[in-house]
Amino acid sequence: EKGGWSSFMAKEVAEEPEAVAKTLLGRIHEGRVEIPELDGMDDLLRGIDRILVIACGTAAYAGMVGKYALESWTRVPVDVELAHEFRYRDPVLSPNTLVVSISQSGETMDTLMAVKYAREQGAKTLSICNTQGATIPRESDAVVYTHAGPEVAVASTKAFVAQITALYLLALHVARLRGTLSAEQLADNVAELEAIPGKIVRVLETEQERISQFAHWMADTRSVLFLGRHVGYPIAMEGALKLKELAYIHAEGFAAGELKHGPIALIEAGQPVFVVVPSPRGSGDMHRKVISSIEEIRARGARVIAIAEEGDAAVLPVADEVLRIPLAAPMFEPLLAVVPLHIFAMGLATAKGLDVDQPRNLAKSVTVE
Ligand code: M6R
Repeated sequence: EKGGWSSFMAKEVAEEPEAVAKTLLGRIHEGRVEIPELDGMDDLLRGIDRILVIACGTAAYAGMVGKYALESWTRVPVDVELAHEFRYRDPVLSPNTLVVSISQSGETMDTLMAVKYAREQGAKTLSICNTQGATIPRESDAVVYTHAGPEVAVASTKAFVAQITALYLLALHVARLRGTLSAEQLADNVAELEAIPGKIVRVLETEQERISQFAHWMADTRSVLFLGRHVGYPIAMEGALKLKELAYIHAEGFAAGELKHGPIALIEAGQPVFVVVPSPRGSGDMHRKVISSIEEIRARGARVIAIAEEGDAAVLPVADEVLRIPLAAPMFEPLLAVVPLHIFAMGLATAKGLDVDQPRNLAKSVTVE
């Protein structure tokens, strides 16, 4: 079933564009998001006063990305919590809390137990799941399936971009119901989503070769750091998780703004640091701040690999390497910026001669608590 691919992971990364496109299918009508699976839930979705996202691992990072869009577009407060932490802390839930679980397999025991707990406490539960008829969707009040297709490699890749897509669809669906975005804003965001698959294709076509090359010269590296800000922050953590699980390299993802509160002490000569650079077209001055974070770590000897949008010239003098992603509205950049990080982790594991589909100590779905 691998086709001509060297691994399931290589195949699944190549399927990232399709995973997004198929997850959008049938959910956009004349520029409006309407999720048929949520028919009959309009009043409920208008009435919620809080969204709690629960998931584990990569699915939790998708949830963290989704939080930015959900809060910004729906104005409903959103918390994201690791499923295994959630139910042991006596959480406050009400019938107006929407608990959104995210799981590729739909069988992750930690997430399942958290969903059951949330239901018992009277919350409404919605599951975002990639596996038809799995246990978590069956235990939930509603389900929005991601259509990434079966994911075989232990490292989650195409499911991750599909999960973000589903969360953005959910956010736009709820924003339409609650009237928190204008028709024009809704249409603009829909157009951004629809353009993502083609842009991921471009990242795969233009950067794959180069990333694999420097994955090669970094094969002896013992630690890699990842920095991001706003939606780039969960992407930094996702990049680090992939490197840990596939290449067995110590890796950490940090919020760029947190550097000066501690992590900058880790920087020494030669330390590789990936930085997800926000668009210079974004609001606030996040771009300038991230560039100055790069300057600070560079001054201490870090070797900086920036992931930045095409045409962003400010990164050139400060970064050692620049990986380019096509222009997208800032909220949509994670769907592009994560792709080089998936390729990098796969390339580094391959350079070390490791099995990228079956990393040691890990199972595809974790069915024990
Ligand atoms: O099947 P799930 O989405 O519930 O799995 C959650 C995590 O176990 C999973 O994302 C894990 O972190 C991956 N191996 C990461 O690549």
